[in-house]
Amino acid sequence: MPEPLTAEPGNPERGRLVVRDLGAASCLICHAMPIPEEPDHGDIGPPLHGVGARFTPAELRQRLVDPKAIDPDTVMPSYYQLEGLRDVLGRFVGRTIYTAQQIEDVVAYLATLTEDP
Ligand code: HEC
Repeated sequence: MPEPLTAEPGNPERGRLVVRDLGAASCLICHAMPIPEEPDHGDIGPPLHGVGARFTPAELRQRLVDPKAIDPDTVMPSYYQLEGLRDVLGRFVGRTIYTAQQIEDVVAYLATLTEDP
């Protein structure tokens, strides 16, 4: 998914705040991330240290917008989809988890994660 969703480029500092928001299906529920000030990190998905070196921004965007295009059985939520979803939490019915700008901010943040732990 090479095209950014917004005209405004993603902002990595904002993206870091977005992924920490535990109300919005935080990545930390399932992934360890280099965010030491949060005490709890999940291990359902792989650690995200170094993803900025392993994936291009286009691949990271694809993963956030529609992870089921990569693996139809993944438990990772689609952060920017309204159709074809199952098990949608009530407060997210009819809206995406992240806005387009938040997707771009998170992609920009993930792209900075180039170091292995
Ligand atoms: C409910 C659990 C869950 C949540 C929440 C979640 N993920 Fe994932 N994620 C996974 C799983 C499981 C995988 C492993 C591959 C698969 O199943 O798609 C994965 C894979 C990934 C990958 C590929 C990593 C690799 O090394 O192959 C990236 C990047 C990623 N997730 C980013 C995120 C980001 C960023 C967020 C928050 C915006 C997030 N994930 C939220 C479960 C989750």
